[in-house]
Amino acid sequence: MTDFTSVQGKVAIVTGAADGLGKAIAQCYADNGMKVVVSDIDTGKGRAFVEELKADGKEASFFKADVSSETEVEQLVDYAVQTYGRLDGLVNNAGIAADARPAHEYSVAELDRVLAVDLKGVFLGIKFAVQAILKSKSAGGFIVNIASQAGIMGNSSMALYASAKHGVVGLTKSAALDYAAHNITVNAICPGTFRTSIWGQAPEEAINEFAKVFSPNGRLGDPREIGYLSLFLASDLARYVSGAAIPVDAGSSAGKITPTQWADTGILE
Ligand SMILES: NC(=O)c1ccc[n+]([C@@H]2O[C@H](COP(=O)([O-])OP(=O)(O)OC[C@H]3O[C@@H](n4cnc5c(N)ncnc54)[C@H](O)[C@@H]3O)[C@@H](O)[C@H]2O)c1
Repeated sequence: MTDFTSVQGKVAIVTGAADGLGKAIAQCYADNGMKVVVSDIDTGKGRAFVEELKADGKEASFFKADVSSETEVEQLVDYAVQTYGRLDGLVNNAGIAADARPAHEYSVAELDRVLAVDLKGVFLGIKFAVQAILKSKSAGGFIVNIASQAGIMGNSSMALYASAKHGVVGLTKSAALDYAAHNITVNAICPGTFRTSIWGQAPEEAINEFAKVFSPNGRLGDPREIGYLSLFLASDLARYVSGAAIPVDAGSSAGKITPTQWADTGILE
C-alpha cells in the first residue's frame, strides 16, 4: 500500500490545535479520514474549528486541556479513549515562545513557564498516550512531537526556547527506543519559520524581507507542509521511521549560506 489510506479510522489527539501548525495538522488528519481530538486552552477557537470540521463531514471533537497540567493531559487521553474506543496516536504540538533576549536576562519564572509547556507538556503527552495506545491493542501507534529548528541548532536570543526544544528532541530519541518493541514510533518534526499567527498583522513586505534572509528558498513555510509530514508519520508507510528529528525548513538547518551566488552556467536560459 503506497497511499495514505492506512490512516483511515485511526484516532489521534493533536494538542494546540485551535490555531497555527496544530490546526493544519488536525485538518490534514481529518481530511484523510482520521478521527481527531482537537485540544487547546483556547476553547472558542478550538470549538469553532471542530464545528467547521463536522460541517464538512469529518469526525472530530474538542477537549480543553493545558498541556502543562498532569491532570488535564490525563483527562484528555481518557476523553479520546472514551469517545472513540481507542487511541492510535498523539501529536504534541502545543508550544510557546519566550520573548527574545540574551540568556542572562531571562528570569527563573520564564524558564519554568517555557519548560512547563514546551518540554513537560511533551513528556506528559507521551506518558499518558503511550499507556492508552498499548491498551488499545492496536498494531502499534505513533507519537509526533513538534520541536523546532531550535531543537537541533542554537538560536541567539532564544536560549530558553532552544533548551526546551533540544529537550524535546532528546525525549523523542529516547522514547523511540523505549517503545520500538511495541511498534510505537516516536518522531520529532523541526519546523523552520512558518506563516502562523505569530506574524499577526505584520505587513506583507516585512514578512517577505524576513523570508529572503532566513529561508533558503525565499519563502516562509505553509502550515500545511507540517501537516503532510505528520500524516506520513501517522501512516503505516512510516512504521520503520522512529527516533528521527526531521527538519521542515527548506534546508536552512543544513548549513551556512554563503553570500556568493550560484554560478549560472546558462542552464536556466
Ligand atoms: N510557527 C513557526 O514558525 C514554528 C517554528 C518552529 C516550531 N514551532 C512550534 O510549532 C508549535 C505550534 O506553533 P504555532 O506557530 O502554530 O503556534 P500558535 O501560537 O499559532 O498556536 C499554538 C496553539 O497552542 C495553544 N497553546 C498554547 N499554550 C498551550 C498550552 N499550555 N496547552 C494547550 N494549548 C496551548 C494556543 O492556544 C494556540 O492555539 C509549537 O510547539 C512551536 O514551538 C513553530
